[in-house]
Amino acid sequence: MIDSKNNIFVLSGKRYTYAMYVNAAGYLQHVYYGKKVSTADVEYCAANISCRFAPQPNDINADTKFNEMPGEFGFYAHGDFREPSVIVERADGAAMSRFRYAKHEIFDGAPEMRGLPHVRGGGQTLEITLKDDFSDTEIALEYTAYDDSDVLARGAKIKNTGKAANVLKKAFSFCVDLGAGDYRLLRLYGNWAAERSPVISPIEQGITRLQSLRGESSHQMNPFAAVLGANCTEESGVCYGAQLVYSGSFAITAEKSFNGSVRLQGGVNDTNFAWTLGAGESFTAPQALLCYSDNGLGELSRQYADFLRGHVINPQTVYKRRPIVVNNWEATYFDFDTDKLFAIIDEAAKLGVDTFVLDDGWFGARNDDTAALGDWFVNEKKLRGGLQAVIERCKQNGMKFGLWFEPEGLSENSDLFRAHPDWAIGRDGVEPCRPRNQLVLDFTRKEVVDYIFSAVSKILSEYEISYVKWDFNRSISENYSRAAREQGGFSHRYILGVYDLAERLTSAFPEIFFEGCAAGGARFDAGMLYYFSQIWTSDNTDAYERAKIQWGTGMCYPASAISCHVSACPNHWTGRTTPLSTRGAVASLGAFGYELDLTKLTEEEKARVKEQIRRYKQTHELVLRGDLYRLCNPFSDNFFCEMLVSKDKTSAYAAGMCLRGDPYASNRTVRLRGLDEKKTYAVQELGLTASGAALMQMGLYVPGSQEYDGWQWTLTET
Ligand code: DGJ
Repeated sequence: MIDSKNNIFVLSGKRYTYAMYVNAAGYLQHVYYGKKVSTADVEYCAANISCRFAPQPNDINADTKFNEMPGEFGFYAHGDFREPSVIVERADGAAMSRFRYAKHEIFDGAPEMRGLPHVRGGGQTLEITLKDDFSDTEIALEYTAYDDSDVLARGAKIKNTGKAANVLKKAFSFCVDLGAGDYRLLRLYGNWAAERSPVISPIEQGITRLQSLRGESSHQMNPFAAVLGANCTEESGVCYGAQLVYSGSFAITAEKSFNGSVRLQGGVNDTNFAWTLGAGESFTAPQALLCYSDNGLGELSRQYADFLRGHVINPQTVYKRRPIVVNNWEATYFDFDTDKLFAIIDEAAKLGVDTFVLDDGWFGARNDDTAALGDWFVNEKKLRGGLQAVIERCKQNGMKFGLWFEPEGLSENSDLFRAHPDWAIGRDGVEPCRPRNQLVLDFTRKEVVDYIFSAVSKILSEYEISYVKWDFNRSISENYSRAAREQGGFSHRYILGVYDLAERLTSAFPEIFFEGCAAGGARFDAGMLYYFSQIWTSDNTDAYERAKIQWGTGMCYPASAISCHVSACPNHWTGRTTPLSTRGAVASLGAFGYELDLTKLTEEEKARVKEQIRRYKQTHELVLRGDLYRLCNPFSDNFFCEMLVSKDKTSAYAAGMCLRGDPYASNRTVRLRGLDEKKTYAVQELGLTASGAALMQMGLYVPGSQEYDGWQWTLTET
């Protein structure tokens, strides 16, 4: 709900209020962000609390007061010495700005955004336009609030209203000045095969910057941050989240001032950013999703999961039952032929797998990672009978077929590169970096995106393909397009090209289920989820490591988006051996599948796989729609355990594992969460019945004490 009177704007969601007002001098001031309060309370705050730092119209010290003023968008070179949110450079190099309120509008629904992923309607939007006193620039700040959610979507559109061009040197999406507090910052940090570990540290004076400069949201830092109040835990206390609906180079910063307040802001990474705005042109910054919880991090995660599923993720597939796939990557890598694939398909069908996904290596002269990216035609030498033979084999077995692409990748040893060497990102005379022996196609160029669209579409139209895995296997280093005049916008333009292709392919083939991937989880973000309902979480499929990666990923993304496969042991990356049952238990908390050569399993293992698939089908709905509760933190505990609970609390499912052998584990109980205290539940695996209150207050004993023992508990109301 949005309330506006006497220059005060009050936005309320399920449990929060966010408020601003236009002060006497015409500046848009932040008033309040926290637990839901009334408009009268906001008026009290605006009149008595926030006014303290409001520059007055005739105040000769006005400029120095900007530095204290809680703002909604930081401006540059006019008295606010905190980090700005926007920098507009004019032809003479001047860049100082002072933005004041000009007008506002309230409308039903969410803003239309073309070319960028965004929240898909619903809610109510407040658009406040600010005008610069010193340049012909307007900023439209957009806030979309939903009565049934604690997520507030924010965006910013910057417009050149003058006759001369100017250059945006920075154009963040949001800025919020949180009042003084003893805050900590949670970031999701990592690396390839070790994505999204939650790291919590105090917010100290100065600027803390989370960022990616890799042209992708990255393995190293996710475009998400949470500011935690002093006593915030998993289950209680205040925290604020901010995540970007964006997949490219980004920055999120937290700046603590002398008075203890924290300015949290973020958007497109401003390092070497430059975007020319001609007369009348606008720049639309990616959206940010803010979230408030006074019920701990767990509630923050659940709010984000509901919001992403309800308002961001591709609605065609978000609640679609996920195909249970077997993917041949870890089974064969590049070394396959039709016989090997047929054997896997035949076995998969017997075990209940419903889709076979053919990974990297089916096209051009692709026998290792040095060649053929860009040559999207079937390698019939390798695949006797072509793709059709593999698809037929799937069909004979009652299975569907999925296919891997890396649309943005380009090998120097490829027909495409030989025909169009200038389609590669980079500059003549600068030796390119070649992670994984490959270059990247210049997706800032429309003709390149058009070409890839037609090449991929040709394959998708010619064959019966029900599933596509879209991979991207390197960061972008040489930010340079051979076809552009302005290079400062390269990185953002690149990701707009990726979104363009994703939009066109998902619209042209609505019946195909798309999975995102970027060398594992280098592009796990709300931007990609707008197109692809699930994302390959990590190349690390070791259950012990995956428990941690899934724990971190669930901080702000729904379980249904987290693609999880059971792989072979010893694990290919860590050498660790964990029981098949434990691998199954950990993977069953997300979108489930297999990533191994099923023909190499023993009869006993095959029976277990069959059983895993049967059981997953029982709890699948909880992965798609349930609420996630994190029970045992694998970063600080000897156990990992997470739980999914249906919205009506009639069913639930928990899975976990013991991380190190623990002779005292038999004394250890796990207290469940999210149940209805008054309902009675049967725990299928334990053959016991107990009330929700007992299960939440007293819990269940962990069933295993040996290293890597796993467990699953399926609960149904009796
Ligand atoms: C990286 C992905 O994460 C893997 O699953 C696999 O698809 C390889 N790329 C193929 O090159």
